[in-house]
Amino acid sequence: MATFDTEYHAPVMVEEVLEHLVVDPEGIYVDGTAGGGGHVAALLDALDPAGHVVAIDRDPDAIDACRERFKEIDSDRLTLSRGNYDQAVEICEQLGMCPVDGFLVDAGVSSHQFDDPERGFSFREPGPLDMRMGPNAQRLDGWLASVEHGELARVLREYGDLPRAGALAAAILDAFDAGDLETTTDLRDVVDATGTGTRRQVSDASLVFQALRIALNDELRHLREAVQRVPKLVRSGGRAVFISFHSLEDRIVKHEFRALAEDCVCPPGLPVCGCDARSEVEILTRSPIEAGQQEVDRNPRARSAKLRAVEVV
Ligand SMILES: C[S@@+](CC[C@H](N)C(=O)[O-])C[C@H]1O[C@@H](n2cnc3c(N)ncnc32)[C@H](O)[C@@H]1O
Repeated sequence: MATFDTEYHAPVMVEEVLEHLVVDPEGIYVDGTAGGGGHVAALLDALDPAGHVVAIDRDPDAIDACRERFKEIDSDRLTLSRGNYDQAVEICEQLGMCPVDGFLVDAGVSSHQFDDPERGFSFREPGPLDMRMGPNAQRLDGWLASVEHGELARVLREYGDLPRAGALAAAILDAFDAGDLETTTDLRDVVDATGTGTRRQVSDASLVFQALRIALNDELRHLREAVQRVPKLVRSGGRAVFISFHSLEDRIVKHEFRALAEDCVCPPGLPVCGCDARSEVEILTRSPIEAGQQEVDRNPRARSAKLRAVEVV
């Protein structure tokens, strides 16, 4: 298979995505997380010329990158839209394209967002305390100026699984109030000096940065709502594929897929069904699909990717 990698981002599990997503090569497919356009390029390659891709991203930088990458592609084949993937129904309705044949979400941040120090996602070089995926979110420094200690500790505990969340929250807020927290490397230094109490391989600061990013961008709510809305967006017989990189995200996808797949919940023995529950999807992946070793060797980011897919009934 051709590679769809660019310097911006290397898409994960491209073959697995196409295999689970494409039911009609002339259909309409929504990529809710366009990023650098890797999966978009793979879809355009796999579809017939009559097929169409709607590529959505909340980050204007990603939309600009896709506009440049696909400048030769006809507008009959590709629509770019800046927005949130849980608004895909509204976006496609406005385009007159709802329901669609397939919906892809490849959650999290792109390599480009992570590698650009100015975005504030990384602590390898000093960057601003930003971490917004798109203009609608709040910057980290603005949030730290008003967040309560208890809320910051909850975010660190729930999204970072950090045993010393309380002490860490206090140290971060003390440093911020003292004016000692201006850059991402300042934040890393506070985390390193305090310690998080984890014994995992992943560096402490990565877990803190990841937890803050998830909270600021309200990532779990958007993901949950996007899964819940799959039957509104995708036609009967169409597919949805979700790739996540964090256990909390994968748990949400698994749980919401199961809720959509649940059929009649009446107690056994009831002569007539009294509930309105009917399966809206069939789960295609009992356990999540993971990237093969060859892909992980080539792209270590693929190691934590988990893919789940459903077909709308
Ligand atoms: C892992 S990257 C996707 C990479 C892409 N599949 C590719 O092949 O280049 C995730 C992208 O999703 C975007 N994103 C994250 N949450 C989003 C949301 N709720 N709505 C829309 N885009 C989102 C990010 O801005 C980022 O560009």
